[in-house]
Amino acid sequence: MSALKILVIPGSLRSGSLNAKLAAAAAHEFAQAGAEVTRISLSDFPLPIYDGDLQSKSGVPKHAVNLKRMMSAHHGVLIVTPEYNSSVPALVKNTIDWVSRVQDPHEIRGQVFRERGFAIAAASEGRLGGTRALAALRLILTACHASVIPNQLALSFASEAYDDMDRLKHPADCEALSAMVRQLIDFSQRMM
Ligand SMILES: Cc1cc2nc3c(=O)[nH]c(=O)nc-3n(C[C@H](O)[C@H](O)[C@H](O)COP(=O)(O)O)c2cc1C
Repeated sequence: MSALKILVIPGSLRSGSLNAKLAAAAAHEFAQAGAEVTRISLSDFPLPIYDGDLQSKSGVPKHAVNLKRMMSAHHGVLIVTPEYNSSVPALVKNTIDWVSRVQDPHEIRGQVFRERGFAIAAASEGRLGGTRALAALRLILTACHASVIPNQLALSFASEAYDDMDRLKHPADCEALSAMVRQLIDFSQRMM
């Protein structure tokens, strides 16, 4: 059987992003568990704000098509999102909106969401750890017909959560991360 492939997508472009750090810690955990991991930056997939006129005139932008194909090449996807005003940042929503408009030949629209497992995580400096962004993201992905695994990670007080090697330092956070990683691997293996 070929190796299980997991795509990790941080939902922040900011240098020093707490979510990018969590994405890196998760990618490490997936690799330790034997998965083949690709961790991307959405800065490599710049997209205009979704506009139906733009899509009618020029089609879906190539970066959305490329990102959708990258997702298709993986068995599972982890999205690590910041929380902005109790929801997901525009970057994350806009990216999902565009990807959901990609339809390759012989596919139904949104097929990429239906055929693989999704996991979600968030990091925030607050006590709730981005819980509200996770609820919003779960709803958005579910609306795209994605299967989102039950285990998720809301990393609270995230600026205090890492050691000087950018590893999670609190046992409860490490356990939540590895439970999520194990569950996405199990789920994705069943969908292979
Ligand atoms: C516009 C904006 C809104 C924010 N709203 C929230 C919020 O509702 N809840 C929260 O926990 N943090 C909120 N924050 C703080 C972010 O969680 C914090 O900046 C975090 O570090 C962003 O993620 P990043 O480090 O991965 O870039 C907000 C930040 C910005 C810029």
